[in-house]
Amino acid sequence: MRFCVSSQVVRLAYIKGRVHGLNKPIERVLWCQIKLDEPLKPEPGQFVMLWIPGQGEIPLSISDYSVDEGILELVIAKVGKVTTYIHERLKEGDLVALRGPYGRGFSVVRESTCLIVAGGCGLAPFPFLVRKLLEARSSVDVILGFKTASEVFHVAKFVHLARRTFVATDDGSYGLKGTVVDVIKDVVDIKGYDIVYVCGKEKMMKAVVDLCREHNVRCEASLERYMKCGIGICGACVLDPLGLRVCRDGPVFSSTILALIEDFGQSWRDHCGRKIPIPES
Ligand SMILES: Cc1cc2nc3c(=O)[nH]c(=O)nc-3n(C[C@H](O)[C@H](O)[C@H](O)COP(=O)(O)OP(=O)(O)OC[C@H]3O[C@@H](n4cnc5c(N)ncnc54)[C@H](O)[C@@H]3O)c2cc1C
Ligand code: FES
Repeated sequence: MRFCVSSQVVRLAYIKGRVHGLNKPIERVLWCQIKLDEPLKPEPGQFVMLWIPGQGEIPLSISDYSVDEGILELVIAKVGKVTTYIHERLKEGDLVALRGPYGRGFSVVRESTCLIVAGGCGLAPFPFLVRKLLEARSSVDVILGFKTASEVFHVAKFVHLARRTFVATDDGSYGLKGTVVDVIKDVVDIKGYDIVYVCGKEKMMKAVVDLCREHNVRCEASLERYMKCGIGICGACVLDPLGLRVCRDGPVFSSTILALIEDFGQSWRDHCGRKIPIPES
């Protein structure tokens, strides 16, 4: 079944698939390949709602997708009820169901110089974006930030594709010492990029968006909010004061729009819809 919300055609029916590959690059992150029964037409930055019967349904970024093999890749951090169940119980060959792809993704710019900035699990949507940018004959530099060496993962994926990959850890135990914002300020020349894409903790994204605005560089950020319907109906993911919904109008927003969103970097809503400050870590 399909119906139209705003200008987007939204697919409601579940797509079945089987877990094709599972791997834990680090203890709290699961990399999961799902072979789907039906083809998808995803854009980088879009997400799917993965349904785990009896547990719940959660939004996850499309980390990569192979049209030829019909294999979808997800990167899943263990944070709470559903993700813990996935980490502990999902096995190769298991049947899963998901709906999507949903939302507005990143702009795939042609023949441009691009910078990707990711903090921790915020790297999830970027392997797909890098491949699409390369297909569009753009060049891509990547900055990956982690807390410490034991949290570092997926670096090889980016080194393999990107022109330059910088890795930083807060404590300097792997790569450069500092945050991704330090790397932007001290190592790369932000003015040399046509566009910056960022995903990770929201305070970090706000700092990157502010830097881009200061230097007049186009920027897009992917936001996370608690989601229920995933298709713009329930209001769980609404952003004040414009009433934009992360699931339908995002999750990717331009820095121009973000400048108008008071909630950005400040607050989000819990599962009851109550507004709460965004956690520091
Ligand atoms: C568009 C989008 C794309 C996402 N992509 C990914 C991804 O690729 N990989 C990944 O690991 N996670 C991703 N997330 C976050 C993921 O959806 C949540 O971590 C997940 O829903 C938590 O479910 P849970 O039942 O395990 O946690 P819960 O038991 O519901 O909550 C545990 C903790 O996680 C926080 N949390 C709950 N829901 C969210 C949420 N939607 N966003 C952020 N924090 C949340 C809660 O505040 C709480 O602190 C994405 C979220 C959105 C909105
Ligand atoms: S999750 Fe329901 S409106 Fe976004």
